[in-house]
Amino acid sequence: MQANSRTVNSNQQYLHPKLTQVIRRHLQTTHRGEIAAHNFQAYGHVSAELNARPRPIILDSFCGTGHSTAILAERHPDHLIVGIDKSARRLAKHPYSLRTNYLLLQADCAAIWTLLLRDGLRPRHHYMLYPNPWPKAAHLQRRIHGHPSFPLLLALGGMVELRSNWQIYIEEFGCAMHLAGHRGRVLRVADTGPDLSLFEQKYRNSGHQLWCYVANIISE
Ligand SMILES: C[S@@+](CC[C@H](N)C(=O)[O-])C[C@H]1O[C@@H](n2cnc3c(N)ncnc32)[C@H](O)[C@@H]1O
Repeated sequence: MQANSRTVNSNQQYLHPKLTQVIRRHLQTTHRGEIAAHNFQAYGHVSAELNARPRPIILDSFCGTGHSTAILAERHPDHLIVGIDKSARRLAKHPYSLRTNYLLLQADCAAIWTLLLRDGLRPRHHYMLYPNPWPKAAHLQRRIHGHPSFPLLLALGGMVELRSNWQIYIEEFGCAMHLAGHRGRVLRVADTGPDLSLFEQKYRNSGHQLWCYVANIISE
């Protein structure tokens, strides 16, 4: 991947002024987004895997090419790692064909989160690596914490880890978690590898500071 990525440029220099209002509103409502057919089909692979061999799951939401999913699978051989990305183009760039303990789903994250919750399945870890930052202030509701599906992520629980090259995104996510009653930590990701994902590699090689939020959410 190229090493000349520009740092995030935003018309928002601090936490979004409507952050609290938007988060509180979403925390009081239940997200009922319609689930398109291809998501049910993708989710069927998770059910089939777990029926064949029940084991704890780890989510790699917004996994892009799934490089991180493969790395996580090596780190956790006794888990099923589920990488989710809506882009068939990105997933087609996954470099490995032999998959033992992971799946790559072409699906919408919120749809898969909904189906996991429906079936009472909770991840041990939930990674969200370098989601699109949506840096324009007007796009707050497209960020993970500003989206109506944020309560689904909270309900799933697990060890949540979000990474970004935009410090404000991580701090906003931390505030949103705090408003939801979860206390975590904002950290710097080390300047040297190993890289967990392709975007991490690109941003590191471009000299960006990388940020991380971690919290252990005990789900109900
Ligand atoms: C900036 S890329 C990061 C990819 C990867 N995690 C990495 O670090 O290399 C963000 C990814 O999120 C995916 N994405 C955005 N919204 C999504 C959604 N609602 N459901 C699933 N994937 C989504 C995009 O297709 C894209 O591949």
